[in-house]
Amino acid sequence: MEGISEQIKGFIFNLDGVVVDTARYHYIAWRRLANQLGFDFSAVQHEELRGLSRMASLEKILEWGDIYMTEAEKLHWSDVKNNWYVALISNLKPGDLLPGVLHFMRQAREAGMKIALASASKSARQVLRSTRMETFFDAIIDGNSTRKAIPDPECYMLAAQAIGMHPSECVIFEDAALGVQAGLAGGFHVIGIGNPEYLPLAHFVIPGFEDQTYSGLLARFSESMVSHS
Ligand code: G6P
Repeated sequence: MEGISEQIKGFIFNLDGVVVDTARYHYIAWRRLANQLGFDFSAVQHEELRGLSRMASLEKILEWGDIYMTEAEKLHWSDVKNNWYVALISNLKPGDLLPGVLHFMRQAREAGMKIALASASKSARQVLRSTRMETFFDAIIDGNSTRKAIPDPECYMLAAQAIGMHPSECVIFEDAALGVQAGLAGGFHVIGIGNPEYLPLAHFVIPGFEDQTYSGLLARFSESMVSHS
């Protein structure tokens, strides 16, 4: 009988928090905005924003600050935050890739896996350019090519389509609980990156790619799927 590892032919990586730690720059920019509006929020609260679209993030922050804004004001402030964010990521370098991720992706590529990147961020290509990863992926889906925000699986469906795979042939690597939900809704296998407490729905969770090998991870993931079935 064909096991999960024989079924998997494509890997789809989320960007922020999986390939590059850009979440801290989103935090700095959103926090600067909150401070200008007269309040503050913590890094723990910022965890709730992981994977949320720009506008959904702003709305959540305004809720925390108990601030009302018209739609026009929201557009203005989300632009202000984005300009700060874009300036902050302009200095990213190849050394800012998260530990082990490039080595892991290279092993997967050598083993014949197709590799796509899917991100809700409109600045994903800038991040990939600065870290010299723009030509690495077989397909890139970013916030400019999608219309629906996660937990809708649109960005992952488009990524699978772009590498010619059915969702059941792909594993998604995701650090956001909402992104995990999106992957499951699309019929994908999902490996969570981070703390298992925050990612209870993922099929399998690893803290990061440091010390992970392609074959070792696929074997452990495959075993865990058998024991859950
Ligand atoms: C990713 C990040 C979110 C960010 C969203 C939109 O999903 O995890 O924190 O809000 O992209 O990014 P953008 O750069 O277009 O504002």
